[in-house]
Order: sequence, then structure tokens, then C-alpha cells
Amino acid sequence: MVQAGTAQKRARTKIVRRWRRNMDVLDDPKYVEMLNTLSEGSVRRNFNPYTDIDWDSPEFKVIDNDPRWILPKTDPLGKHSWYQSQPQQRQIEIGMWRQANVAKVGLHFESILIRGLMEYAFWVPNGSPEYRYCLHEAVEECNHTMMFQEMVNHIGADVPGMPRLLKWIQPAIPLVAGPLPIPFWFGILAGEEPIDHTQKNVLREGKELHPIMERVMAIHVAEEARHISFAHEYLRKRVPELPRRKRFWLSLFVPLTMRILCSAIVVPPRAFWREFDIPRQVRKEVFFSSPESRQMLRDMFGDVRMLCRDTGLMNPLAKLIWRICKIDGKPSRYRSEPQRQHLTAAA
Ligand SMILES: [Fe+2]
Ligand SMILES: [Fe+2]
Repeated sequence: MVQAGTAQKRARTKIVRRWRRNMDVLDDPKYVEMLNTLSEGSVRRNFNPYTDIDWDSPEFKVIDNDPRWILPKTDPLGKHSWYQSQPQQRQIEIGMWRQANVAKVGLHFESILIRGLMEYAFWVPNGSPEYRYCLHEAVEECNHTMMFQEMVNHIGADVPGMPRLLKWIQPAIPLVAGPLPIPFWFGILAGEEPIDHTQKNVLREGKELHPIMERVMAIHVAEEARHISFAHEYLRKRVPELPRRKRFWLSLFVPLTMRILCSAIVVPPRAFWREFDIPRQVRKEVFFSSPESRQMLRDMFGDVRMLCRDTGLMNPLAKLIWRICKIDGKPSRYRSEPQRQHLTAAA
């Protein structure tokens, strides 16, 4: 009895010791240098939602019947023939609602991330450059949430953002960042990668956008590059060091998280389909039964597949789960590699 108790205590101390050791990064000069570069980048190049966007200027005004709100072709709904056959006014209304809701989901997601960053930074040891970087990222995300909310308010659609279930469980998610930072950072990538991928595709497509959309997306893509870089480097440093058994469970957790969170972010909530009376069949095709939308879903995770391959998270069972979740495919060759098929489809 006493022996079992001591063994348990020893195991617990071992876990805590490993957790602490994982936060010590000063013995890894390359990682430290990467963090310093990102932090310095944050100081050199950053945006303020109120000085870098002139919300009151006449060109930023949101007016009725503005065709620039029509959904771009890179948007899975924008590409659908049902959407394209709607009267222009309807296309504009749907476009405004959808784009406002994506901004709202984005800010909901960022709010979870900010709280998680603070939770993680709380435990980081003195002198660690991760503290400064995490706080820079939190500041930037605070600015993004203000910018996105301002955009929602200007559009004037009363959009709900995240699905209701996720709204209920979200208070618990940031608490994971302290004890289980690795799954937390994968969760963050599951949100950041689809949003970033979608925004980059819209910007690359080159359709004329409302200046609010264009400015907000350009600012966001610019700062997001740093955030995604950090998440990747953080995981590249830690995942290969994990004990085999944990890495195995993680390899199954990653594709599931990617798929579940991506749907929560990319698929509009029920209120949207009801508001615009969109046929069920269209909804099904767009998310994600048509071949194009499936391809789009796959393309979002090329970088994560690369990360998983490089850190030993692609075993046969994990690959099967990637396939069941319909997000399998070739890993990117380098980060942000443009997806060719996607571009030609858009053109
Ligand atoms: Fe952001
Ligand atoms: Fe971010």
C-alpha cells in the first residue's frame, strides 16, 4: 500500500518535472533566436485597428447594393451555381452576412487563443523568450478582435459567430494551455490554418472587395504569418521529444481536431441557412460533398500534414483517421505552398 503510494507520487513528480523541463528553452539557441526574431518582427511591423484603418472615411462606408460584397469564387458558397443564380441584391445580402459571420467566428476563436496564451505564459519560467513572444501575440490578437468586431458592426448584420455548442464549451479550452500546451497549440493551428488559407486565397483571387474586407484581411494575413510560424516551431521542437505512447495518441487527436474545429469555423451556423432559405442540397454540396469543396477542405491542411509527417505523427492508424476525416492528401513541400488546382479553379 505504502509502496504503491510512493510509486504514484514518484510518477506524479516525474510528470511535473517533465512539464517544467519542456518550458525551459534557453538551452536551444536556434529556438531562442527564432523567438527573438518573431518578437522583434512584432515590434517592427504591427497594426492598430484604429490608426491603420480609417473607419470613418467615406470609402469605408457600408452602403446598400454594393456588389463588392458578393462572395468571391474562392468561397465554396460563392462558387456554387445556386448562389450565382440568385438576384444580385440577394447575393449581396448573403455575402455581407457570411463575411460578417466569418469575422465574428474569427474573433471568438481569437478570444479563446488570447486566454490560452495568458494561461501558458503564466507558467513560463523567468528569462524565457517565450513569455515576450506570447504576450506580443496576445496583443496582436486583441487588436484583431477589435478590428473584426468593428467590421461586423459596420456591416450591421447581427451574426452569431461560433456554433452554440462550441460557445458553451469554449471557457474550458484555454485552461488546457497550461497543463497540455501541445494539444492546445494543435487546436490553435486548427483555427488559424483554415482562416489564413481562406483569406490568402481570396486575396490571391484578386476580385474587387469592399475596402473594409480588403484592409482587414491584408492586416490579418500579415500578422498571422508570425503566429502560424510560432505554432509550427513550438510543435516541431516539442512533439519529437514526446514519449512514444503520447505521440501515438496525439497523432490520432490531431486530424480529429483539425476536422472538427475547421467545420466549426468554416461552415456557417444554422441561423444562416434559415435566414436566407438556402436549400439543404446546396448546403450539403458546399460543405463538403461536392468534389471542389472536398478539395478545398483538403488543401487547408497541407501545412499541418507536413508538420505531422516531420514530427512523427503520421502512422498507419493516424493516416486512416486523416482519410476518414477527409483531410488527407499530400503534405506541403514548404509552408504556405499555394495549391495549384485551387488557383486554376479560381481563375
Ligand atoms: Fe488573428
Ligand atoms: Fe493569430
